[in-house]
Amino acid sequence: MSEKRELTAEEQDRIRRMKWWHEAKFGMFIHWGLYAVLGRHEWAMENEGIPVAEYEKLAEKFNPKPYPARDWARLAKEAGMKYMVMTTKHHEGFCLFDTEYTDYCAPKVCGRDLVAEFVDAARSEGLRVGFYYSLMDWHHPDGARCAQDEEARRRFVKYIHGQVRELMTNYGKIDIMWYDVHWPLSAEGWESAKMNKMVRELQPDIIINNRSGLPEDFSTPEQHVRGEEAGRAWEACMTMNESWGYHKADDSWKTPRRILRYLITCARDGGNYLLNIGPKPDGSVPEESVQILKSVGKWMGKYGHTIYGAEPCEVKRSTFANFTRKGNTLWVHVHFWPGSEWAIGGLRARVKSATLIPD
Ligand code: GLC
Repeated sequence: MSEKRELTAEEQDRIRRMKWWHEAKFGMFIHWGLYAVLGRHEWAMENEGIPVAEYEKLAEKFNPKPYPARDWARLAKEAGMKYMVMTTKHHEGFCLFDTEYTDYCAPKVCGRDLVAEFVDAARSEGLRVGFYYSLMDWHHPDGARCAQDEEARRRFVKYIHGQVRELMTNYGKIDIMWYDVHWPLSAEGWESAKMNKMVRELQPDIIINNRSGLPEDFSTPEQHVRGEEAGRAWEACMTMNESWGYHKADDSWKTPRRILRYLITCARDGGNYLLNIGPKPDGSVPEESVQILKSVGKWMGKYGHTIYGAEPCEVKRSTFANFTRKGNTLWVHVHFWPGSEWAIGGLRARVKSATLIPD
């Protein structure tokens, strides 16, 4: 018998805030920024050692088509996703939102607040909204210096906290705060406790990830699916090829079948699955990603009920199948046909019907 104890007020509040998220299971990640213009992955600036002044010129070429976020939101919905998380600022430092802290932002470069467009698009499809925000910043003059120089740290933390405040204030209700990379400071250096307290004051229902150096609400295994210890929420984030940002040459696409297997495993083990698109510079989604998501959506249209709201499932092991569970119902997701005689953990069963997952 497990020991029963009263939940703390904080634990109860977390259960309340995270109910929709646990049920949702499946979300869309969007990596979009100036790096799309280069089309060589979102780390190009760092990996290729491109000087700031040269990289900045990409902003002049950044001229997205009208409202690309509407296409993303429709596609997310069609794929059976329930929420979207977009890069408001990636490591390159370019802000897709309106900010008083820098001119290096979309509204001052192309006259559009791309975060506002994103929020409107997601909301109009009934999807929840998440903001990815990179603490690490290759553009800001204090972005690296802050690790050695206390004055620089103070300036930079003011900048970061100020932008987080803007994001939490100017776009209505935000459901998820998705920080990334707490290099080069620790949670203490970023003053993350203070920052997240502000976030929660401005957005009482928000769910915060663990990448400001504090555990907060959920963990973020990357490019693999692995559950957390019992009681700890997690979300596996993954690319459809090998790149988060648009990469012209990367054609190593996963099949819809493989993506569905990951999603099923997440649902089986009590996690969520955040699947990425890397739109092109004009905001359009690579055709391969569109086709994969449509195919996944077809399956979700029929079998989404085996995923949404699934609870952690103890039946895990089989050579031919995966499992999800809700209450007393166990779903067997068959990868290949095992023959007419088979058993799960000693339980013999007769198959009444079966459908193939599309390739
Ligand atoms: C890694 C990458 C980054 C990407 C992130 C997504 O931190 O550095 O580019 O945005 O993963 O989780």
